[in-house]
Amino acid sequence: MRKNIAAGNWKMNLSYSDAKALATDLSKVDVPAGTDVILGVPHPYLAQINEIVGTANSVSVAAQNCHEKEKGAYTGEVSTGMLDSIGVKTVILGHSERREYQKESDALLSEKVKVALAAGFRVIFCCGETLTTREAAAHFDYVGGQIKNSLFDLKNEDWKNIVIAYEPIWAIGTGVTASPEQAQEMHAHIRKLISDGFGTEIAEATSILYGGSVKPANAKELFAKKDIDGGLVGGASLKAADFEQIIKSFQLARK
Ligand code: 13P
Repeated sequence: MRKNIAAGNWKMNLSYSDAKALATDLSKVDVPAGTDVILGVPHPYLAQINEIVGTANSVSVAAQNCHEKEKGAYTGEVSTGMLDSIGVKTVILGHSERREYQKESDALLSEKVKVALAAGFRVIFCCGETLTTREAAAHFDYVGGQIKNSLFDLKNEDWKNIVIAYEPIWAIGTGVTASPEQAQEMHAHIRKLISDGFGTEIAEATSILYGGSVKPANAKELFAKKDIDGGLVGGASLKAADFEQIIKSFQLARK
């Protein structure tokens, strides 16, 4: 059975005290059964926020990145081993902002995914096209290529720790959300791709999240779609009341 997931990506926002206050509020939320809440927290705050959310109510933390090597002379980088040692077991990889600003390629992401999986992490793997790519009607191939290039040499058993986040770049931080139909169509495409590569059972068990201007006002409609198993939320995850509403927007129990 796949999970409903409400994931927040705090990106490079919030002071330490604001982050602690937000996590404290979210740790008190009555999370619906069958739903995981994941907070993508900046590295310096991870240990403390992890302690605040504890293990009580299905809220856990994720790192927003990790390095592709286990350790060594890589100034400024953070390894899976370091994250593991403070109790972090989920990492967001391949966000479009890292692909664009840090020039992370499909090949590099393939390495990062493997290192993270080998360390026992759950990986939230992001993919998504630009507006130009969509307007050229190349979005299915483009997103399919990102997934194939970085995830298709995984073993079947690795997929239990993969979550896909489809985040069309034109919808991130713009207030323009993909319509539920546009998102559903891409999610169905991604699930079919996984099914063709790894079988129906794995495809049906993989949570596929939508990201890009998810708000309390549109979450219900998006999450009601058959292949949309939740959201990866930026701006609206920075306010406890907004994110709580999103967490409570699930209508479908996943099978
Ligand atoms: P917004 O929800 O702010 O559009 O950000 C989406 C995102 O990039 C989440 O990773």
